[in-house]
Amino acid sequence: SGDARVAGIASSIRVIPDFPKPGIMFQDITTLLLDPKAFRDTIDLFVERYKDQGITVVAGVEARGFIFGPPIALAIGAKFVPLRKPKKLPGEVISEEYSLEYGTDKIEMHVGAVEDNDRALVVDDLIATGGTLCAAVNLLERVGAKVVECACVIELPELKGRDKLGDRPVFVLVKAD
Ligand code: PRP
Repeated sequence: SGDARVAGIASSIRVIPDFPKPGIMFQDITTLLLDPKAFRDTIDLFVERYKDQGITVVAGVEARGFIFGPPIALAIGAKFVPLRKPKKLPGEVISEEYSLEYGTDKIEMHVGAVEDNDRALVVDDLIATGGTLCAAVNLLERVGAKVVECACVIELPELKGRDKLGDRPVFVLVKAD
């Protein structure tokens, strides 16, 4: 069942205290990747949810959206588009800035990769404040795509990141505290 698989996925995620800074409980998905059943179940749960939703593009957020996004895209027959940190993509890009605790960051997407008739799924490993996913959604909507949903392995519900996404649905497998 879905629940038994989710429990296995949750227990495969390692939590590292005080990384990268004091007070942060880092949700480390590299241990999930070491467990082929947990990795397979993670991909399967997303594929089961999205296979019949007419999704034409999976947009993965650097860096860990590049791990979970491509196997989902292949399984549902969608294209994969990387949303990258600044100055990594060689072609013409559009960029979206978002605020961090201190300062700002930016993600970029190749112009032409996503079109106005695309139906998009945005994939990342984790939603914390929601700033990154919000910027990703904005990029896709700026080129006219319909964002069907955002999908993450882990949510930190206390940070209320999904509030930033407004009425765009966010689906997560594991809620951490
Ligand atoms: C983490 C995580 C998400 C983002 C979520 O990435 O993988 O992309 O933070 O945070 P938010 O909801 O508060 O925006 P990180 O900043 O560690 O970058 P990396 O994936 O390149 O290591």
